[in-house]
Amino acid sequence: MCGIVGYVGKKQAAPILLDGLAKLEYRGYDSAGISVRDGDKDAVIVKAKGRLSKLADKTDQGRAVPGTCGIGHTRWATHGEPSELNAHPHCSDDMNVIGVHNGIIENFQELRQKLIRHDYQFYSETDTEVAIKLIDYYYKKYAGTPVDAINHALVRIRGSYALAVMFKEYPGEIYVARKDNPMILGLNEDGAFLGSDVPAILKYTRKVYYIGNMELGRLSADGVTFYNLDGDEIQKEITEIEWDAESAEKGGFEHFMMKEIHEQPKAIADTLGMYISNGKIDLSSLAKNGAVDENDKASDPEAILKEIGRVYIVACGSAYHAGMIGKSVIEKLAGIPVEVSLASEFRYCDPKLDKNSVVIVISQSGETADSLAALRLSKERGIPVIAIVNVFGSTIAREADYVMYTAAGPEIAVATTKAYSAQLITLYILAMKTALLKGILDEERAKGLMDELAAIPAGISKILEDKERIQWFAAKYANAKDVFFIGRGIDYAIGLEGSLKMKEISYIHSEAYAAGELKHGTISLIEKGTLVIGIMTQNDLYEKTRSNMVEVKARGAYLFGLTSYGNYNVEDTVDFAVYVPKTDENFVASLAIVPLQLLGYYMAVTKGLDVDKPRNLAKSVTVE
Ligand code: M6R
Repeated sequence: MCGIVGYVGKKQAAPILLDGLAKLEYRGYDSAGISVRDGDKDAVIVKAKGRLSKLADKTDQGRAVPGTCGIGHTRWATHGEPSELNAHPHCSDDMNVIGVHNGIIENFQELRQKLIRHDYQFYSETDTEVAIKLIDYYYKKYAGTPVDAINHALVRIRGSYALAVMFKEYPGEIYVARKDNPMILGLNEDGAFLGSDVPAILKYTRKVYYIGNMELGRLSADGVTFYNLDGDEIQKEITEIEWDAESAEKGGFEHFMMKEIHEQPKAIADTLGMYISNGKIDLSSLAKNGAVDENDKASDPEAILKEIGRVYIVACGSAYHAGMIGKSVIEKLAGIPVEVSLASEFRYCDPKLDKNSVVIVISQSGETADSLAALRLSKERGIPVIAIVNVFGSTIAREADYVMYTAAGPEIAVATTKAYSAQLITLYILAMKTALLKGILDEERAKGLMDELAAIPAGISKILEDKERIQWFAAKYANAKDVFFIGRGIDYAIGLEGSLKMKEISYIHSEAYAAGELKHGTISLIEKGTLVIGIMTQNDLYEKTRSNMVEVKARGAYLFGLTSYGNYNVEDTVDFAVYVPKTDENFVASLAIVPLQLLGYYMAVTKGLDVDKPRNLAKSVTVE
C-alpha cells in the first residue's frame, strides 16, 4: 500500500519527508516522490522509480530542494504501471494544486472525461491525477477556499482516499482529507506532521490527531485545524502514542499476519470496488497487455468469456486452493467445466488444452516460477491467459494476455491471508460475469449475489470480533501432533487452505481430506484425542460430513466443527463449534477461512514461533 508523509514548520521539509517515507518502506512500493515549497516560490516536484535511495540521491538527501513545507509519497501501483510519470505527487498544469493520494477512486474514468471536457490534459494513468485536477477545477470554478474546493471534489469522488494537497496561493499550508484510508496528524514545537501510518512521524512526535472519515484538516506551522464536509471548523482531541517503533509498523498488532488478517475486509471491499460499479460487473479495467494482437482471439476478454467451453486454473500453494474454490463457483454459476492444476505439475504432464478455453493463472507475487512457466506454455499453445495477480507490473502480470489485479495491497507475512481472500473475490466476479455473458445468470440473481458479496467484509469483521474464542482453543491444542481437516466440495478446498495455514506457521503436521475418503485409509490414523476439524458450510453436504465426524468421534477424535449460524445441531456432535455468518453458499469460503487462519496463527503464537517468517519458506518462490 502507498505511503504518505507531510511536514510544515520551522525545519527543512525534504529530509523529514525522506526520513518519513523510509519508515514506510516496509509497506512495499515501486516509486516515490516529494514536493517542497520554499516560501512564496513555486513548489518543486522530484520523483524516482524504484528504491527510495534513488529519490534521496536525486535530491542530494533533500538538500537540493529547500523549503519548509512539503508532501511525499511512496507508490504501490494500482492504476498504471510503476513509472516516474505515474509516481506522486501529481499537479495541475499551472502547479496551482499539488497532491498525493492513497486509496482507489472508483469513478476516476468518469471524472477524467468530465475534466477533459473542461480542457484538462492528463499525463499519467493514475486516478490520483484525476483527483488533484478535480480539486483544481472546483477551486477555480467557485473561487473559494481550499477547504471548499476539496469538499466539492469529495462529493463527486467515489472510493477511498487519504489526500494531502498544497495550493499555490496558500504557501506554508497543507490540506488533508480522508475516507477509509488511514492518516494521522502530529505536532511538535517545530511544526505539524502528517503520515499515512504512525511510523512515518513517530521519530518527531507522539502527540497526534486522528482525522475521521470524510473530515478535512489544514496544517500550518502554527498547528492543525479540522473541518467537516460543510466546511465548518470542528474540534479534536490530541492523543499520545505509546507504541514503540516496531509495533507501530504493525499497526499495533503483534505480527504482520494478524494485521493482514484484519485487513481482509478492506482488501475485499477494494477488490470489489475495482470490478463492480453501480451494481454492474465491469471488466473494462482488466489490463490488456501490449502483446495482445487486436485481431487475435485474445483481444476482447468479454468475448472470450462468452464463448469459452472450458477453464484451466493453474497456481501454487494457497493460490491453488483459491483456484479449487474458483472451480466450484465457476462450474455452479457459469455451468462450464473447470480443471485446476498445480503449476508445478501442469507443465510436465503435456496438458491437452481445448482450443475453446482460457487459462487462469493465480499468483499473489506474480513471480512464482512454476506459475510463470505454466503461463508461457499456455500461451505457446495459443490459449488466452488471464492472470489474477496482486503485485502490479510483476512478471506474470506483464506476460499474461489480461490481468485482473487484486487490491490486497502489499502482503508481508509469508503465510498469505488477505491476498488469498482477494483472489477468491476475483474468481467469484469472473464466474458471475461469465454466467451473465452466457445468459445463464439473470440480472436479478446477479444483483442478489452482488449484495451478498458486498456483505462479506462486514461478515469477516464480525468473525474477528470473536477471535479470542479461537485463541483460547488454540492455546489448548497447540501441542497437537496431527490435525485432520475434513469436508466435501468447497468445504474440502477450505480445509486444504486451513491445513496449509496451520502446518506452514505452527509446524504441526496437518492434512486435509475429502471427508468421504477417510474410510479408504486415513481413518486408521485417528486415535484418542486426535484433533479433527470438520467444515460443514454446504447444506446438501452438511449431514454427510457430520456423519463422518461421528465416525471419527467413535474412534476417539476431538471434534472442532465449522459451520454457518443456524446449524446449531452441530453441537450434538462436535466438542467445539464455530459459526460464520450466513451467505450464499458459493461465497462461504471467504468467511469460513477466517477462523482457520486465526487457528493456525494462534497455535504458532502459543508455540512461540516466528509467525511472519516461518522456517524454510520464502514469500515469493522464484525457483522451480
Ligand atoms: O505468490 P504466489 O501466490 O504465486 O505464491 C504461491 C504460493 O507460494 C503461496 O500461496 C504459498 O503457498 C503461501 N505462502 C501460503 O501461505
